[in-house]
Amino acid sequence: MSKDYEMITHEYDVIVVGAGGAGLRATLGMATEGLKTACITKVFPTRSHTVAAQGGMSAALGNMGEDDWRWHMYDTIKGSDWLGDQDAIEYMCREAIPSVIELEHYGVPFSRTTAGKIYQRPFGGMTTHYGEGIAQRTCAAADRTGHSILHTLYQQSLKYKAKFFIEYFAIDLVMNNGQCVGVVAIDLADGKLHLFKGHITLLATGGYGRAYFSATSAHTCTGDGSGMAQRAGIPLQDMEFTQFHPTGIYGAGCLITEGARGEGGYLTNSDGERFMERYAPNAKDLASRDIVSRSMTIEINEGRGIGKEKDHIELHLEHLGKDIINEKLPGIAESARIFAGVDVTKAPIPVIPTVHYNMGGIPTNYHGEVINPKGINDEVIVPGLMAIGETACVSVHGANRLGSNSLLDLIVFGRAAAKKASALVKPGKKHQNVDLHSVDKIVSRLDKTRYSSGVNLPSQLRINLQKEMQKSVAVFRTGKALEEGKNKIHSIYKDFSDISLSDRSLIWNTELLETLELENLLTQAIVSVESALNRKESRGAHARDDYPDRNDSDWMKHTIASIDESGKVDITYRKVILTTLTNEVEPVPPKKRVY
Ligand code: FUM
Repeated sequence: MSKDYEMITHEYDVIVVGAGGAGLRATLGMATEGLKTACITKVFPTRSHTVAAQGGMSAALGNMGEDDWRWHMYDTIKGSDWLGDQDAIEYMCREAIPSVIELEHYGVPFSRTTAGKIYQRPFGGMTTHYGEGIAQRTCAAADRTGHSILHTLYQQSLKYKAKFFIEYFAIDLVMNNGQCVGVVAIDLADGKLHLFKGHITLLATGGYGRAYFSATSAHTCTGDGSGMAQRAGIPLQDMEFTQFHPTGIYGAGCLITEGARGEGGYLTNSDGERFMERYAPNAKDLASRDIVSRSMTIEINEGRGIGKEKDHIELHLEHLGKDIINEKLPGIAESARIFAGVDVTKAPIPVIPTVHYNMGGIPTNYHGEVINPKGINDEVIVPGLMAIGETACVSVHGANRLGSNSLLDLIVFGRAAAKKASALVKPGKKHQNVDLHSVDKIVSRLDKTRYSSGVNLPSQLRINLQKEMQKSVAVFRTGKALEEGKNKIHSIYKDFSDISLSDRSLIWNTELLETLELENLLTQAIVSVESALNRKESRGAHARDDYPDRNDSDWMKHTIASIDESGKVDITYRKVILTTLTNEVEPVPPKKRVY
């Protein structure tokens, strides 16, 4: 290893990478199970992107009317457009209830009903009686639910003596003969390298929304865990499915929660028409996100957009009145004032569909163990490696995620992973020797990036990538646009091999950090565009103008895409699990989605 770098070695039973909702729930669970637990995070835990989750977390508590986890399960399968794995969906919807109650007991300050129960609001696609009525299923702490959960979980994790390594950036996984034995990270403050040895390394690093130009995701959402998995030879699943949230603030991209429509907000076009009544006569503005985003895009494309450029839609909350807004939606009132200059009690908010969530990611089972698929019916567990949250594809969201199922996914699978880790690892177990060759390879990549002296600026390549993704892997897709996008993104990847960095220092070198992040974004963007080009049907968030229908006979299967160092992508498939976990529920057979 180069003498330039000091390497500090740590030994933990388990290493969690990422301190958002999933990472913190897993960290807390592992620490309470008596495992010596380290959590590595590139931002302070309570600044992780979960802090931006507004509307809430779904669970069929039935506090505001009748509800049943089986209805929740049905909605999630339907919302996924039958690409979700039904065993994992059953697990998530059933475990939602105890998971929320646990959060309440840990101290999450949920909003309350007058009877003192957890307040629940309606969210898109959430129904009662298998699609008959509207469910109030989304547990909320005003419109700051993610913020409340993060603070609570961080405090609890400290109480149980989890050790946090804050503002450390994980560079790569350390693999010994196909087994993950830890991770190498850089301390951003002083540039020292740290080798974390762990019997299990759990990736909870979030999505890669920043591959796009306009996203509700924080600038930190660069898919670092999935990038590391790709370099470790693990393929990614269903990367063509990117969710556009219907209500990003026009021009700024900040999220206006779906909870705003849950509380009675509605969308209009330039004719002042509540157009969702035409597209989804029953669910209207609370149809699932893929449907609402597509309807808005059609309105704009057909000339009924609002504004000088006729390029956005309006979201109305004025009729709700100050009291409801102050009590239930104070955060979005502030965001609208700051980012759109709008007083929501007096005027509508200009909104546009904005990239919000990646349904695809590292394939896992519902315990959070990483799977390496070898064929449609054949797969192996990658020993020592787990993944949860947005970086993972478990797959409970399939082709389209329902709003408020994301906070749920983070918490349920953070909890499940902690249970599995405690079953797999005996506290204090001896660590195996690490293959130093694999550590050297990681350091060489860092060194090569740091001293690169080519011609291309990483910041320019990043903007080129973001603009291309926005244009070609959009709400509506065509083979032609995807083919062009694929060629352009490959050419940006080629340019990345000839980059130039001007800052060679190791003290808070943000240029180096952003370049490492860019490499993660690039490899994920490549498999996304290639997977989208490859899938010749429309399903969930993947809407192909040239293949407008869902085609279950040819395409009810997960895409599995791997990439080699040269950027060459290989696509295979994995079966969708259509059998349920227990015989408490029947599998939900595929049918056309009607809202
Ligand atoms: O609209 C929202 O509050 C976002 C929630 C989600 O993506 O689950």
